[in-house]
Amino acid sequence: MSAMPGPDGEFDKVLVVDFGAQYAQLIARRVREANVYSEIISPRSTAAEIAAKAPAGIIFSGGPDSVHADGAIAIDPAVYDLDIPILGICYGAQLIAQQNGGTVGRTDRGEYGRTVLTVGGDGGTLLSGTPTQQNVWMSHFDAITVPPDGVTPTASTPDAPIAAFESVERKLYGVQFHPEVMHTEHGQQVIERFLREGCGTPGDWTMASIIDTSVEQIRQQVGDKPVICALSGGVDSAVAAALVHKAIGDQLTCVHVDTGLMRLNEADQVIETFEKNFGVRLIFVDASERFFSALAGVTEPEAKRKAIGELFIRVFEDAKAEASSGSDGRRAEFLVQGTLYPDVIESGSEHASTIKSHHNVGGLPEDMEFELVEPLRSLFKDEVRQVGSELGLPDDIVQRQPFPGPGLGVRIIGEVTPDKVETLQHADFIVREELAKAGLEREIWQSFAVLPDIRSVGVMGDERTYGYPVIIRAVTSEDAMTADWARIPYDVLEAMSSRIINEVPGVNRVAYDITSKPPGTIEWE
Ligand code: XMP
Repeated sequence: MSAMPGPDGEFDKVLVVDFGAQYAQLIARRVREANVYSEIISPRSTAAEIAAKAPAGIIFSGGPDSVHADGAIAIDPAVYDLDIPILGICYGAQLIAQQNGGTVGRTDRGEYGRTVLTVGGDGGTLLSGTPTQQNVWMSHFDAITVPPDGVTPTASTPDAPIAAFESVERKLYGVQFHPEVMHTEHGQQVIERFLREGCGTPGDWTMASIIDTSVEQIRQQVGDKPVICALSGGVDSAVAAALVHKAIGDQLTCVHVDTGLMRLNEADQVIETFEKNFGVRLIFVDASERFFSALAGVTEPEAKRKAIGELFIRVFEDAKAEASSGSDGRRAEFLVQGTLYPDVIESGSEHASTIKSHHNVGGLPEDMEFELVEPLRSLFKDEVRQVGSELGLPDDIVQRQPFPGPGLGVRIIGEVTPDKVETLQHADFIVREELAKAGLEREIWQSFAVLPDIRSVGVMGDERTYGYPVIIRAVTSEDAMTADWARIPYDVLEAMSSRIINEVPGVNRVAYDITSKPPGTIEWE
């Protein structure tokens, strides 16, 4: 299988070297927000590998270590001879200093959080036009005390005498503060000035140009051959399918497997959007009964996931034969996947372990004999959403919250039965509807209902009840690695609670989950 390259063909590219702080992705995104394509690379890349990518500029990220620490990561010093502009941020700036004749002092005080930066002279390329005093975000212990050879200090803070430096001639730029975080008042300006003035990038990487380039690349990759796509209903597969459909129209056949474990009306929405509105060739497989039989009597969480995952693959294999014959009866050789950039970032391996990988049930067996078409491989999630909107997908799909591959199967504790799915779908619909009414859905990463396997006593009217509770789970998060329980206003929770109890038969109690991640996970299983 081979993967399609990202949409960087005709565009300037800036490489972000990831020294291990959590900031590299943020830097890459800020560069893209300035309409310049960016890629994250490992600090172990050699100067020759970097040169082969022909970047317009390079940014060194911050990192958790001290440049003085044993085994501190450095970059191949030959990178300084490539005549490519380099911006170092925090650790990156210190590394530039250390590798180019400057000194990084081991101060006994660090600076953390909001700090006032004082700009000297005209601020140079990076800070020109910004105020003399401005708030920046700092997170450092060591500080540069002697600048690298031939560079001019351009700003300072109380504990960082050289908080910014540059040499236009040597194409070296450094900032001790973090321009990529929102708390740095003029941070985006600093990044843009580096890109435009330092690297000469025009900023022509826009959503429309991404789509045009992708369409062209998809056409080149698949020629006139048939292509298939498993459409899960999630954002990524939906946008990938819409993009491929724009490129090759009827050469694409989508398969949607209804596992019976989807949210209320989800399958209908997939049909409505893709088949009716976009005119995509869609094979719809209602496999719900097969999933319910496979799940009968299964209560252990991992066993459930396994049962769902394996059956999904079998159902898809069956549908594949039909789907892959294409509109003209030829076998498909290509399979569309909605892989995103965070899944492919090749970086320092010691922190790659923090990236959680799920067995993606919307995903497919590893031994399939298809070549992959991955048109979203170089995009972040928010960029995928923008591409989706630009292609005309409705907000309901494009702004959809993440949904686990095994669906409601991991939100029903204990055995999964059609009745329980119906109960949960209904309660889940109310949670989402009330949240949307309150205008909170975009602030919240995921919000849903969980149906536990216990019952409790209640009273409704004059009747004693013995029914299921529903647990509401709503979290805020940046990336699902960590999450906090969402502070939903009480009146919204109350509306959810009273509607669930009044409208969903068999439910007599509602609880709100106030566990962050860690120690909890977002899903209950
Ligand atoms: P947890 O529960 O581990 O979930 O905090 C983190 C994020 O991953 C989603 N999730 C899954 N996504 N297949 C997926 O594609 C899965 O099997 C799966 N399990 C959990 C979850 O909804 C959350 O966004």
